[in-house]
Amino acid sequence: MSATATKDGGSVTITLNGTNKSLTIPLIDGTIGPSVFDIRKLYNELGVFTYDPGYGGTAACESKITYIDGDVGVLLHRGYPIEQLAEKSSFLEVSYLLLNGELPDKAQKAEFERGVMMHTMLHEQLRRFYDGFRRDAHPMAVMCGVVGAMSAFYHDSLDINDPDHRRISAFRLIAKMPTIAAWAYKYSIGQPFMYPRNDLSYAENFLYMMNAVPAEDYKVSPVLARAMDRIFILHADHEQNASTSTVRLSGSTGANPFACIAAGIASLWGPAHGGANEAVLKMLAEIGHKDNIPAFLAGVKDKNGHNRLMGFGHRVYKNYDPRAKIMQASCHEVLKELGHQDDPLLELAMELEKIALHDEYFVSRKLYPNVDFYSGIILKAMGFPTSMFTVLFAVARTVGWISQWKEMIEDPSQRIGRPRQVYTGATQRDYIALDKRA
Ligand code: SDX
Repeated sequence: MSATATKDGGSVTITLNGTNKSLTIPLIDGTIGPSVFDIRKLYNELGVFTYDPGYGGTAACESKITYIDGDVGVLLHRGYPIEQLAEKSSFLEVSYLLLNGELPDKAQKAEFERGVMMHTMLHEQLRRFYDGFRRDAHPMAVMCGVVGAMSAFYHDSLDINDPDHRRISAFRLIAKMPTIAAWAYKYSIGQPFMYPRNDLSYAENFLYMMNAVPAEDYKVSPVLARAMDRIFILHADHEQNASTSTVRLSGSTGANPFACIAAGIASLWGPAHGGANEAVLKMLAEIGHKDNIPAFLAGVKDKNGHNRLMGFGHRVYKNYDPRAKIMQASCHEVLKELGHQDDPLLELAMELEKIALHDEYFVSRKLYPNVDFYSGIILKAMGFPTSMFTVLFAVARTVGWISQWKEMIEDPSQRIGRPRQVYTGATQRDYIALDKRA
């Protein structure tokens, strides 16, 4: 079959050759960024689909939350640049912004922070879920299990069409993720769980639950708390990435928010996505010394190899990920605070970045460091085991997931997500009895 397309101004008309079928497809403009061809009538009018494995060229929804310009390395949350938010805001204030669309005034900020901190504790029976895991279970497995199980504890907020249920679910998820994550870590090292402290800030409270023990007082370093809060801000939301799209697709069926966030956690776990920060540390350990960088990069460039330069490349950013720059600056600050300013891992990572950014293979493919390249180095210096890196990503991204989920539920045009396919399998054929098969 063939077709002819003719473009006129803000639309394109496609005609299937040899038929009287044609469709004029309008071009819709956003406030900034690429326009979109609205192809919703394409199948009904022309009986054809578009083909876009991985959805690299497909806008799956309309959104007002986050804007990325991958060519110039811009990231805006509700119009505010990530650089300004990372420097001047706090994670809970950014959470309010993502959820509500505007920065809060003083009263709104205080009320939101109180609302979140009032939900930091877990139902006592959820504690028992941890005992069902092996001590060496990957903490992301624990996160999937415990967050999914929250659906069984909050029957009072599962009606996704009730705005109050959506609001309380958002508070519960944002508030409880640090507790669930810290308890997953404590369980893995056989230490008692630390209950949340609502007199501490969000990031302080998380570091407290991660590091304190009942036997003595624990004071959270203000520099580390600030660094943790900034890392949460940098991971809060990122447009329609794989895990956010998973949450949206799950939510489009009417599944409850806890089940949807558990699906997002599962999707984030992959090394091509949120698991990359853990993979970067493993890669740096494998390289070991800067003298080994050329051989490692040769392996990455080898078509028959399977190694990738983890923490590099991005589906959208074809320039420096702005989060990576902020993360690198934060790296130096944290390592200095911890007295590790000569951390060999950071030196190796910076040498690797310098060589890669001058290597034609990476330059020609526009492969730059992404948010995961430096985050692992900071987190390791702060004492987190590598298995907790993606867990921290999930803690921060929960507000992005729930904000995107809320936007989808409140979008009057939203319907169940159901992609189609191009079928290249067998045409219809009759069943062959076992004794007749070759
Ligand atoms: C995150 O989507 C988001 O916004 C995600 C995220 C968020 O905040 O939610 O930003 C978080 O997931 C960041 C990405 C973390 N992942 C990694 O660091 C893993 C390593 N990077 C890649 O595997 C890769 O770059 C992806 C998955 C991130 C993007 O892959 P694409 O867009 O599908 O690119 P591709 O696989 O089609 O690669 C294009 C070319 C290929 O070479 P050719 O076949 O053209 O010869 O670039 C090469 C790839 O082999 N390539 C790499 C590479 N990434 C791409 N080669 C070496 N090392 C890499 N890291």
